[in-house]
Amino acid sequence: MSFAEVAVIGGTGFYSFLDDYEEHPVETPYGAPSAPVAVGTLAGRRVAFLPRHGPHHEHPPHAIPYRANLWALRALGVRQVLAPCAVGGLSDAVAPGDLVVPDQLVDRTFRRVPSYVERGAVHLPFADPYCPGVSGALAAADPELKVGGAMVVIEGPRFSTRAESRHYADQGWTLINMTGAPEAALARELRMCYAPVALVTDMDAGAEVGDGVDQEEVVALFRANLERLSGLLARAIEGLPDPRGCGCSTWADGVELTYEVPGGI
Ligand code: ADE
Repeated sequence: MSFAEVAVIGGTGFYSFLDDYEEHPVETPYGAPSAPVAVGTLAGRRVAFLPRHGPHHEHPPHAIPYRANLWALRALGVRQVLAPCAVGGLSDAVAPGDLVVPDQLVDRTFRRVPSYVERGAVHLPFADPYCPGVSGALAAADPELKVGGAMVVIEGPRFSTRAESRHYADQGWTLINMTGAPEAALARELRMCYAPVALVTDMDAGAEVGDGVDQEEVVALFRANLERLSGLLARAIEGLPDPRGCGCSTWADGVELTYEVPGGI
């Protein structure tokens, strides 16, 4: 049975989204997800919500059960994922308080299981890591939202040194965060459409004047923008295109997948 078509994976400080929901504890071959999945109705759609850090921020970025999270959503019927996240800014094209839909990803994580593929030759097409349909619906939901730029994902949980941060900025990358990988690739491995919407909470250490980034700064800025972000997500969900036929799913047509995609095609 399909419980939900669309999911929001909430980031730091973003633990509630749906007013009226029921909770689904889901077990997966990869263990339990970060929390029971909340499912409710929003903008006429069945929407699932999963806080990626857990209801009480139990899971730091490097220890989030990413594979269980995406698998649980797919098992509930989800085909499109909107993924709000907190990010640092690396370029003066962005400032704290900006909402950005990046169009590229640089994966600098090194301790996470990056894939459902454990055997065989399954190589995910990932040149364009984010779904154009979901990204477009996010961009259309807020005229002030910025579109484009590369987001580098670091292992964490510590913030970057000034030298690391300057290095990332020198590469021309715009945003930095700790949770965007392997989440995006896992979603596509499970044939789901996925796009992040990044809230700039700080300018990272290389750009920041003073002591660098701290946790309170990130959480406070995220909290101050919760309502704005919730409104944007509701409008984006209303404007989502039909996911059928999207390349985020059809890439696997005719490919012999060596892992289970729950719920079939
Ligand atoms: N998340 C929010 N701000 C960040 C930063 N500066 N670096 C990495 N992840 C972040």
